Amino acid sequence: MIDMRIIGLKEFTKNYINDKGKYMKKTFLRLGKQPITNNFLTKHQFEDEYFYNLDVQFDTDTKLVSITKMIDPEMMFNDEYVHRASQSITMCKHFEDISNQLQKRHKKVLEIGSNDGVFLKHWNTGDAIAVEPCGNFAKETQEMGYKTYAEFWTQELANKLLVKHGKQDVIYAANCICHIHDLDDTFRAVELLLEEDGVFVFEDPSLFNIVKNTSYDQIYDEHPHMFSVIALDNLLQRNGLQIVKVENLSVHGGSNRIFAMKLSQDVIHESVYQNKRQEEDLGLDKFEAFESFTLRVENSKTELIKLLTTLKQQGKKVISYGATYKSTTIFNYCGIDSDLIAYVTDTTLDKQGKYTPGMHISIVSPEQGFDDTVDYAFLGAWNFVKEISTKESEFLNRGGKFITHVPEVRIIGENI
Ligand code: TYD
Repeated sequence: MIDMRIIGLKEFTKNYINDKGKYMKKTFLRLGKQPITNNFLTKHQFEDEYFYNLDVQFDTDTKLVSITKMIDPEMMFNDEYVHRASQSITMCKHFEDISNQLQKRHKKVLEIGSNDGVFLKHWNTGDAIAVEPCGNFAKETQEMGYKTYAEFWTQELANKLLVKHGKQDVIYAANCICHIHDLDDTFRAVELLLEEDGVFVFEDPSLFNIVKNTSYDQIYDEHPHMFSVIALDNLLQRNGLQIVKVENLSVHGGSNRIFAMKLSQDVIHESVYQNKRQEEDLGLDKFEAFESFTLRVENSKTELIKLLTTLKQQGKKVISYGATYKSTTIFNYCGIDSDLIAYVTDTTLDKQGKYTPGMHISIVSPEQGFDDTVDYAFLGAWNFVKEISTKESEFLNRGGKFITHVPEVRIIGENI
């Protein structure tokens, strides 16, 4: 395969002032040439595949970590969107639990990025509104009886919803806010539609865990921002909201569930201070922490290539488990193609029979590919390691092994 990555870029730190002449943003990580992460392709689409340079920067003003090149949302969130939130048992239980928790105190809910309705299905159809720009999923929640707006979340939409439905008790979003480029517009839209004592609850992978675990694969086109509590509170506060509570979650490799309310509410839970202190201890409010993160990312790449190359030389069959968006970042950054990973297995019907973005490794169903011939399986879906190791106990019992890069590159067997 032709090597499409950019190699040898030595200039890691670029300082510049944005077009308002206001903020200092510094690039600290370059993850090379990357494709659209959710663009699982057929062979005839290889030639026209779109690539961009995935660079990551720190905003010294807000402390927000973001990618430098924002991809047009319509290239990612369209009628062919493949990520189905109800794909895993862990996530189904997760959304049932948060629905029960919120319903103890609130009635009317609006969900931003409602996907296949995995959260909303626990709410009465008359009390819940879905906002989902991916037409295929918007159709599903509409058919389930939920009033669904197949649109992106904007102030314009919030104004329309205010007239039609009034203010909301709860606005909820899971793994969605970090997808949105313009956070000021997003938070202003929430502020507009929220009751005075309403709560905005949203959860996304946490920057604290990304840095601590060197899980750089959380960085890709769909995740233009990686959130610390510190940065989020800065951004929310300049838009009339503030963080009142933080819950640390284990899902998606470590996420934070943020509870935000209007600035007029004055009860701040201890968890907000605790999380901010913890982040400061890791240095997430300073650029230097990200420079050392970059060194760990480069080391992770070296170690992973070394391990996969050694296993290949030993004649072992290595596959990848879960055609995740995250593994797209890893494969393209490390230059891992079908020479090192025989194929990828995934339970998602829409991914099966296709190829991974960029490195073009074939994807098959677990029934077809997760058989006795497999010696090692790289955990693309490492965030589900518990669920997967329980499900695949037979593989482990017969001596099969998983490979992960989190928190460092290693082989894991029965001792998970
Ligand atoms: P996900 O965790 O959402 O990661 P990302 O956001 O990086 O894509 O995706 C998990 C993928 O792994 C999804 O395509 C389904 C697949 N999967 C399996 O193939 N088998 C499993 O047992 C589990 C839990 C997931």
